[in-house]
Amino acid sequence: MMPSNSRPHSEVLREAEPRRTQGADAASKADLYHDLGRQLRSLIAGEPDRIANAANMAALLYHGLPDLNWAGFYFTRGRELVLGPFQGQPACVRIAWGSGVCGTAAARGETVLVPDVHEFPGHIACDPVSQSELVVPLIEDGRVTGVLDLDSPLIARFDEEDRAGCEHLVAMFLGR
Ligand code: SME
Repeated sequence: MMPSNSRPHSEVLREAEPRRTQGADAASKADLYHDLGRQLRSLIAGEPDRIANAANMAALLYHGLPDLNWAGFYFTRGRELVLGPFQGQPACVRIAWGSGVCGTAAARGETVLVPDVHEFPGHIACDPVSQSELVVPLIEDGRVTGVLDLDSPLIARFDEEDRAGCEHLVAMFLGR
């Protein structure tokens, strides 16, 4: 039998929920994260390469979550975050620790949910279309090794369910 991680990603992505408009009820958002978790587990099963898994996770989230204009990773390199695999417009390559939403989430070691990026001091506008943002740190052995960054063209796109759902997906990405 073909191992699950050998399935073409297009086959996995075809199973993604159709893109929905904002305002999906709580049950359907929970269902969506449940489905994304199932697909992510299948995509990364048995594959130890972090870049490959990050690339597939970025694609899964970009195509599977509604109303995103950017989804991807930054990885810790010294006292900076450096751009990793992503989907969306080209983005700034290096972010200083503590700068912007990404650097703040990395420095705090906790998720930062920004309903309106214009209200966040120091927000780094890689894509002027972005209106709201969710950044989840990757924490391994007490160290922040990177962040997952999601951007939306809608104000207040992300809520506590998105925070919990994305933290769960990041934990899965880290092998938990
Ligand atoms: N807005 C981010 C920068 C990264 S881009 O959104 C892809 C920030 O303020 O850290």
